[in-house]
Amino acid sequence: MVVLRLKKQRYMAALLSSTTILLLLYLQNSLLIFTYGSFGFVSVLRSPCACSICVADRENSNWFSERYNPNVPILLTSTNSLLNANVSSWWEGLQYSPDSGNYTEVVNQLFPLFPDKEHYSDASPDRCRTCAVVGNSGNILGSHYGPLIDLHDFVLRINKGLTEGYEKDVGSKTTHRIVYPESAMDLDSSTHLMLLPFKVLDIQWLISAFTTKNITHTYMEVPSTIKANKDKVMIVHPEFIKYVYDNWAEGHARYPSTGFLTLIIALHICDEVNVFGFGATSDKIWNHYFEEILTSYENGMHDGKFENETINRLQQENKILIHKGWA
Ligand SMILES: *[C@@H]1O[C@H](CO)[C@@H](O)[C@H](O)[C@H]1NC(C)=O
Ligand SMILES: *[C@@H]1O[C@H](CO)[C@@H](O)[C@H](O)[C@H]1NC(C)=O
Ligand SMILES: *[C@@H]1O[C@H](CO)[C@@H](O)[C@H](O)[C@H]1NC(C)=O
Ligand SMILES: *[C@@H]1O[C@H](CO)[C@@H](O)[C@H](O)[C@H]1NC(C)=O
Repeated sequence: MVVLRLKKQRYMAALLSSTTILLLLYLQNSLLIFTYGSFGFVSVLRSPCACSICVADRENSNWFSERYNPNVPILLTSTNSLLNANVSSWWEGLQYSPDSGNYTEVVNQLFPLFPDKEHYSDASPDRCRTCAVVGNSGNILGSHYGPLIDLHDFVLRINKGLTEGYEKDVGSKTTHRIVYPESAMDLDSSTHLMLLPFKVLDIQWLISAFTTKNITHTYMEVPSTIKANKDKVMIVHPEFIKYVYDNWAEGHARYPSTGFLTLIIALHICDEVNVFGFGATSDKIWNHYFEEILTSYENGMHDGKFENETINRLQQENKILIHKGWA
């Protein structure tokens, strides 16, 4: 099966049973494990993380490797903010914005105000960074997933997904909340506000919310300010949004849903991704556990059917684990 190149490296051999031999080799910080059993040498594991399965391990799925780009910027910083022409024209055409400012000038105001650092470059063969992505689907009601969700290192929540009153099913911990101005809400000071900008005005709103508080309208009324820890603000890079659209939504509809974008963000910042509260009803309706809202999942903006198929495929390829809903 797998060809072994055993040179003069140090190795340990363990005789587990009369038919199984386990060899561990340490090569340039990576761990190779060869098991020898009645089928011959069967596996070569070079693990980029300490979980049993690592998202970023690209050797076990061609489908995944063709889509996953670990080099695309996740967050906007002062040094990566320049948009290439393709990203710029796609992104600026997403949402109508009557008096949108000059992107370059707006971004120049961002980083004196908010943290300007690289995050999440802390992957290591010794670490297992776990993420729970908690969607807003009504199917999470009655699940009792709360305690399981709260065990994760990161708990990512989306838009107005409440915890108060729903802790038993959705948990109480929130490390990241992914919002845009029209979906923003107050956060506690330990939570990262992660802005998904769909237009220049969204970035202007973020600045205004922490300074002049004078932006109160986008295409609808928005809060002039919100409670959130300024030192934990993050802005998703427009190039990341286009990457999710091109590589993961494969150009379906106008742009990916916030839930889908959040799931792909999790694939880039965590080693193990568990998914809760995703999925539409059998009538193809996105319903929410905390409010009466019914949106067709094929609404022109987003292609919920295609997103559902992609999410199912991610599970088939062992990249995420979907915790099924109940209601
Ligand atoms: C922009 O898009 C065109 C057409 O899809 C492609 O040929 C080109 O390589 C892209 N440029 C960059 C900088 O990505
Ligand atoms: C945006 O502002 C920058 C810097 O002030 C300037 O160089 C650029 O020409 C402006 N772009 C537009 C479209 O006005
Ligand atoms: C908000 O205030 C800033 C600074 O005073 C000003 O430049 C900007 O035009 C104002 N925006 C709105 C929407 O009133
Ligand atoms: C989503 O995919 C699952 C698995 O294929 C399927 O059972 C379900 O009906 C799909 N949901 C919708 C609303 O299409």
